[in-house]
Amino acid sequence: MDRETELRLLDECVANARGRPPAGDDAERLVPVAEYTDAARFGRERDVLFRASLNLVAHQSELASAGAFLTRELVGTPVLLTRGEDARARAFLNVCRHRGATVELRERGQCSRLVCPYHAWTYRLDGTLASARHRHGFPSLDVERTRLVELPCAEAAGFLWVCPTPRAGDDEADPLGDASTRALLDELTAFGITSCVVFAVERRVWRANWKLIVDGGLESYHFRVAHRETVGGYFKDTGSTFERLGDHFRLVLPRVDIEALASAPRERWSIREASHVLYSVFPNASVLVQERHFDVITVTPLTPDQTLIEVSTLVPDPGAQGFSERARGFWAANHEFTKKTLHEDWTLAEQIQRGLDAGANAHFRFATFEGALSQWHDRVDARLAAATP
Ligand code: FES
Ligand SMILES: [Fe+2]
Repeated sequence: MDRETELRLLDECVANARGRPPAGDDAERLVPVAEYTDAARFGRERDVLFRASLNLVAHQSELASAGAFLTRELVGTPVLLTRGEDARARAFLNVCRHRGATVELRERGQCSRLVCPYHAWTYRLDGTLASARHRHGFPSLDVERTRLVELPCAEAAGFLWVCPTPRAGDDEADPLGDASTRALLDELTAFGITSCVVFAVERRVWRANWKLIVDGGLESYHFRVAHRETVGGYFKDTGSTFERLGDHFRLVLPRVDIEALASAPRERWSIREASHVLYSVFPNASVLVQERHFDVITVTPLTPDQTLIEVSTLVPDPGAQGFSERARGFWAANHEFTKKTLHEDWTLAEQIQRGLDAGANAHFRFATFEGALSQWHDRVDARLAAATP
């Protein structure tokens, strides 16, 4: 984030804390609860929003050196990521070209060749077929041209992004190349996220629609109540400020003592000290910028009422000497606290999901001061509408 933007956002937070009505107030919005339960709607969201987009799938430090590989299940698609001898990251369907077995079953590792566990067809890290056992039995097989099916893959702002649908035709346009996405990636890069490493990850399925999970991250109205045991006392529950960056959002959640900034010299103002900055990254991720580290949350919709959520704590790279005992304890405590806070949100989301079918509400209600919620839903609706033939 550039300094001008940082100061402008902090000015807005201070003004809000002093009671200024938020500029450009949104209208109150009613959202039909059917949008969280309807199977047809869910299928369209998964296909249009997730399967046709680059999703944030991993941090570069998880695929750091030549020969590294990772596997993921991305909205129902088995994905294999490799770092080739040429240092390039590539993504493939993790499906053998012989008879479709999963080529790599391990979650991560290091290798020079990928060997299918069924009949041992062997692939290079660039996806090309290196050998097929008893090759003479496949006279029509063109070994030179047989390769794992490649998926669109990009590296930007320290992350690996993959679209789970093979590129149709030869469309080489960079889906991370639009101006809003570039601005967001530049902000994340400037915060130093590229030089971090993943300290810990939690992966867990929650019984709630994926939009309930996103909704909980786009408003601070619930902070003082739902997070009273954790972060509720640290942040203001109104006074946050947000901006839409294309289909992405940046929210700034000021700490309770934000007004004290006004009496401090402006050159000492730091958005990381005075607030949490949360990026909602379309379609599947949220990046929380904390004072010294980051938390990355990715959602994978599984069914209308089930979502796989990954919470990764990213911390500054300790280098070759690794983490000291003290640092390890400190970051582990941070990771636990973040999970505890987020679990408060997702436990509520599960309770909401259970109540949806009871029919108490035809609509949910988003307040005038919850513009990020309303505008995010507008973007989802617009994307779905644009994809309707
Ligand atoms: S399915 Fe992979 S080698 Fe046969
Ligand atoms: Fe929350």
